[in-house]
Amino acid sequence: MQPEFDSLTRVMKARYSCRAFLSQPVKRDLIEQIVHTARRSPSWCNAQPWQLTITTAEETAKLGKALYEHASQNTMQPDLPWPEGYSGAYKARRFTCGMQLYDALDIGRTDKPARAAQMLENFRFFGAPHVAIVTSPRELGAYGALDAGGFVTAFTLAAQASGVASIAQAAPAGYAPFLRNYFGLSDDKLVLCAVSFGYADEAHKANSFRTERATTDEIIDWH
Ligand SMILES: Cc1cc2nc3c(=O)[nH]c(=O)nc-3n(C[C@H](O)[C@H](O)[C@H](O)COP(=O)(O)O)c2cc1C
Repeated sequence: MQPEFDSLTRVMKARYSCRAFLSQPVKRDLIEQIVHTARRSPSWCNAQPWQLTITTAEETAKLGKALYEHASQNTMQPDLPWPEGYSGAYKARRFTCGMQLYDALDIGRTDKPARAAQMLENFRFFGAPHVAIVTSPRELGAYGALDAGGFVTAFTLAAQASGVASIAQAAPAGYAPFLRNYFGLSDDKLVLCAVSFGYADEAHKANSFRTERATTDEIIDWH
């Protein structure tokens, strides 16, 4: 196999969703380099519909405090409706990755308060020094979101390749009206998700497990 393939595979295998970060900020130059690489993502008609609102360490802390308080008291109102449900294999995978996280953190299966507290850490961005709020134009609908999803993956891989850990998060997008108001985002943008990033706290239990994947046979239907 080509060395490029091996390098890409190594980066893809090394990336994981980081849920505990060190406070050390990422230099702005490096953040720009990550975006510079991720922007090579393909998009329908080359529309490149992704837009990022990125916070400095100081602003991430302020936002995290405000969003955590807001999320503790309010119900979610995402711009894009949440999935209608997870059934079959999707339900099983969702359950497994949730259990992996709770087991890693020694949170018991029936300990609802501890689970809720861990869920709320989403709104403090798991202590990350930076968060990127990802939006796409409302008029592009699901297709803008599809392109932006590809960009999010590219961002996480470019980050990983430069030593920066990250996590894509739908949870903050549950408070789209709050984020729109906080950042003055226009109504013609959909708030899709967040990507928190920084340097991993590798010793933290939340970062101690790795998720599973379906086999290629399960993914491909050859004809
Ligand atoms: C679009 C998207 C939204 C996600 N939202 C959340 C989230 O709100 N909170 C969270 O802890 N993880 C979230 N994740 C991370 C997934 O749980 C994670 O990618 C999945 O379990 C696979 O694990 P890995 O990223 O460590 O390989 C999200 C991932 C994606 C791609």
